[in-house]
Amino acid sequence: MTNLQTLSTNGRCTVEALPPLHILQSVQSAVRTGLSAHPKQLPPFLLYDHRGSNLFEEICRLPEYYLTRTEQSILERCAPELVARFSRDMDLVEFGSGSSIKTRTLLDALFSNGHRPTYRPVDISHTMLNASTTALVSEYPELMIKAIVSDYGRGLEEISRQRERQKVFLFLGSNLGNFTPLEAVDFLAGVRRAMTGDDLLLLGVDLVKPLAVLLPAYDDAAGVTAAFNRNLLVRLNRELGADFRPECFRHEVRWNQEVQAVEMHLASEGDQLVSLPAIDLKISFLAGETIHTESSHKYTSASLAQLCAEAGLAVERSWSDPQNWFALNMIVPS
Ligand SMILES: C[S@@+](CC[C@H](N)C(=O)[O-])C[C@H]1O[C@@H](n2cnc3c(N)ncnc32)[C@H](O)[C@@H]1O
Repeated sequence: MTNLQTLSTNGRCTVEALPPLHILQSVQSAVRTGLSAHPKQLPPFLLYDHRGSNLFEEICRLPEYYLTRTEQSILERCAPELVARFSRDMDLVEFGSGSSIKTRTLLDALFSNGHRPTYRPVDISHTMLNASTTALVSEYPELMIKAIVSDYGRGLEEISRQRERQKVFLFLGSNLGNFTPLEAVDFLAGVRRAMTGDDLLLLGVDLVKPLAVLLPAYDDAAGVTAAFNRNLLVRLNRELGADFRPECFRHEVRWNQEVQAVEMHLASEGDQLVSLPAIDLKISFLAGETIHTESSHKYTSASLAQLCAEAGLAVERSWSDPQNWFALNMIVPS
């Protein structure tokens, strides 16, 4: 297990992180494996460098991206009821916290109800975690923060050690949808193993709906999602010395009916050869060949219940919006 390094301790806020060399090695290994595979694919965590994280924030404000505002409206409605289930002294653990915008709705409800939460965000994006924790410390004078810059798995190992106070795990924004069903069960089973006493998981998932709504959410008219997708190649050029020409890859969005997921791809505009000197790799692309960069699985209440059951969990309560587009689920050990 790689030890975390303390990046900063500043009064109420501590930020720990995986060593930069460890992160670079994960990037190198993921890119070598993914680009050597058939079909070519890259894991979605690579989308979130500094610029990618900022582009994602822009995506959240787009008219086509209904996910953020729908989940936010559900949270606003059910926050008072939710926090009534939380202990006074508790850890609010958030995986893939990003800018923690939605978390503020829960923090507001917690503080107005007399709770004293410690916020424990886990995110791979170092710059986003620094910015969000700095803002939260000044907005919430009573809030303690222990942040971890790492992948979900390493963060979960760290969080699992705390077994005294109630832990409420947050996994919002349908982040679960980026996992294959097997990976999703694996992640949920890891959360289950970390749960003790009256710990809970609050899981926000996007629901199956007409393609006329789903596809534009990942292919907006202003081209922000296309820029987000192509930025992955800019990152590989910078971090691995690669010579991708991002303008020679088209943003492509597909619905995969079999696995019920929207997929993002980068499609080569012609035959081309790309070098990645840092990992001693040369990769050829045929015209139209794609790199699969992200899947966003969509759920029904039955498919989510099935995933949870396989992980030893059960949905205790579920809240949705009037259109039934998104669901926030309170999940407990079964
Ligand atoms: C789709 S955004 C969601 C942000 C926020 N939770 C929301 O609901 O708006 C995904 C977030 O998860 C982080 N992330 C993606 N893959 C990750 C991984 N494997 N480990 C840790 N964080 C990850 C990204 O940096 C990003 O902040």
